[in-house]
Amino acid sequence: MKSKPSSVAAHCVLGVAAAAGAVATSCSAPYYSLSNAPASPISQPLRPQFVSYSFEPAFWTEFFGEPDSPRNLTFTLLNHLHERGARPIIRAGGITMDSMVFDGSQKASVVRTEDGKGGIYKTTVGPSFYQQWDHFPSGTRFVSTLNFGNASLDIARGLAAASHQLQRDKIAYYELGNEPTNYPSSRWNGSTVAYIAQWQNFTGAIDAAINNDSHGRWWASSATTDITPLKVRPSDLIPAGVSSTGEVGQYSIHSYAFATCDPARAARATTANLLNHTLILHYADTEILPSAQAAMAAGTEWIIGEFNSVACSGKPGVSDTFAQSLWTTAASLAYAARNASSVYAHQGAALKFQSDQQLNTPGDDGSPGFSSYSLLYPVNSTKRGEARVLPVFVSQLLLAEALIDDGSGGVGGYRIAALGTPEGLSEDQFAAYGIFGDAADGSGLKLAKLVILNVKPYYASQEAPRGTVSLDIGKHRGAVVKRMTAPSVDETDAAKVTWAGQSFRNGNAVGDVAVERLRARERVWLRDSEAVLVTFKE
Ligand SMILES: *[C@@H]1O[C@H](CO)[C@@H](O)[C@H](O)[C@H]1NC(C)=O
Ligand SMILES: *[C@@H]1O[C@H](CO)[C@@H](O)[C@H](O)[C@H]1NC(C)=O
Ligand SMILES: *[C@@H]1O[C@H](CO)[C@@H](O)[C@H](O)[C@H]1NC(C)=O
Ligand SMILES: *[C@@H]1O[C@H](CO)[C@@H](O)[C@H](O)[C@H]1NC(C)=O
Ligand SMILES: *[C@@H]1O[C@H](CO)[C@@H](O)[C@H](O)[C@H]1NC(C)=O
Ligand SMILES: *[C@@H]1O[C@H](CO)[C@@H](O)[C@H](O)[C@H]1NC(C)=O
Ligand SMILES: *[C@@H]1O[C@H](CO)[C@@H](O)[C@H](O)[C@H]1NC(C)=O
Ligand SMILES: *[C@@H]1O[C@H](CO)[C@@H](O)[C@H](O)[C@H]1NC(C)=O
Repeated sequence: MKSKPSSVAAHCVLGVAAAAGAVATSCSAPYYSLSNAPASPISQPLRPQFVSYSFEPAFWTEFFGEPDSPRNLTFTLLNHLHERGARPIIRAGGITMDSMVFDGSQKASVVRTEDGKGGIYKTTVGPSFYQQWDHFPSGTRFVSTLNFGNASLDIARGLAAASHQLQRDKIAYYELGNEPTNYPSSRWNGSTVAYIAQWQNFTGAIDAAINNDSHGRWWASSATTDITPLKVRPSDLIPAGVSSTGEVGQYSIHSYAFATCDPARAARATTANLLNHTLILHYADTEILPSAQAAMAAGTEWIIGEFNSVACSGKPGVSDTFAQSLWTTAASLAYAARNASSVYAHQGAALKFQSDQQLNTPGDDGSPGFSSYSLLYPVNSTKRGEARVLPVFVSQLLLAEALIDDGSGGVGGYRIAALGTPEGLSEDQFAAYGIFGDAADGSGLKLAKLVILNVKPYYASQEAPRGTVSLDIGKHRGAVVKRMTAPSVDETDAAKVTWAGQSFRNGNAVGDVAVERLRARERVWLRDSEAVLVTFKE
């Protein structure tokens, strides 16, 4: 049911623009027909844990504070998600978990052992690191992350035992090691079998030390998609027998399609490339899907255990702009449609030992150079200035409101499927998803919502005016539209970036919720660099 674009919209959309800033062009915008028929299989039901987070353990205190002095900004953001029914799982994971140790006598939650210039040798956690989990929003669960980098069963078991003793009821999963693909090659000499033997050895010994609590709840793999001699993606580990001891609860793979770890890759990490939707799907289908399919064929859940747009802490001017909101929405939805159970957006700061050619660095005084892809800069810093929320945060609200069952959706949760690109629009610059719930009358799955992204970049400096497309979304009896927007794709000030009319620069919502109401059959419009959530009337 596709039609050619027309320069005259039959149903002229008047008055809707007020909420998002005047869009005088919406009446004359070319229009296209979006077919609501799925173009991909409909996913498994989505759970409240779909949107989850990974926080680099070395910077845990910067993000969360101490139990008696919480960093309210971060908790305020988590609360916004909980209010919308999301229940993010928190992973204190990343590179620094592989030099993390537990010290039962340490007062502070987290102490970094550094070289004075931001190079981190060791991250020591004390009991309060685990006790602080009690201060997270009610219902929050965690991944107990264990050091495999030091190849010490004592260290890994020590962390597992402490987490189990202090917080066993809040542990959802256990994870041994981060990105083994990046370990020194001498550790397993490129042998998948040698890796599995040691992984099973450690996980079995840790099960025995903590009442078997971890048995069957281990994440396996945690590999990157870099090409390395050691092949340990889920698609490598599963046929090699990693689950022969029954340990695996979920398969985890890390997703970073771009990087600033070296100048060549930094040059490619542009807004135009990040937002090229063809590239987003190409990475998902070539690098991630084979591992996802291996996991699903084995009857085991899979997750993106850590991801973000640009590896090695992001790219200022790209990942700290509104482009990151569009990218995060598009990438998360692509993985939801491919049946990821959760996606863990990574939060942290530059790690000096990660690469000696990387673009990002710690502050000159060794203080954290916070990653510009994070949801927020949690504290004032010499490198990033004032503590504040970044533009990307609104994407998390869109995802929560789109995907999490608020009680009106399906019994088992909403399901998602990709829709085709309307004829006349570029697949590089457009994405649409249908969200399906169980029909109230028991007649099966029914289209409940649409998420539509127009990811064509509109830059503040460009001379060409911002384009608008108007979409025929088929027969409907009326709908409510919430819009994620900003003055331009390169906007860095979260005060100017809105979700349904509200901005969140200092954590709290500013402005009234603004929705647009569509009459029956009315079209929806999107300017370049915008996304909308359309919720149909029953
Ligand atoms: C996702 O899971 C559903 C079943 O819940 C299945 O029908 C669909 O084919 C799966 N999608 C992919 C991409 O494997
Ligand atoms: C955090 O919030 C609590 C409770 O609202 C308040 O008592 C405390 O002063 C706040 N802390 C900071 C650092 O703003
Ligand atoms: C763990 O390994 C790191 C290097 O990967 C090293 O700097 C650190 O000293 C080791 N820690 C222990 C306790 O052996
Ligand atoms: C890896 O190769 C080195 C050099 O040949 C050898 O000393 C070491 O034992 C090997 N390690 C493993 C795990 O096979
Ligand atoms: C398994 O662990 C034991 C002791 O904990 C050790 O002696 C043995 O070498 C380990 N095997 C592998 C394959 O790592
Ligand atoms: C650990 O738990 C699993 C599943 O609950 C069980 O099959 C296994 O026998 C247990 N192992 C031990 C040592 O108790
Ligand atoms: C998107 O990426 C594809 C594949 O590299 C390329 O052919 C296409 O020109 C890109 N589109 C845009 C709009 O940059
Ligand atoms: C952080 O910076 C802001 C703006 O410069 C300042 O008002 C505030 O007091 C600073 N906060 C701390 C804890 O230093």
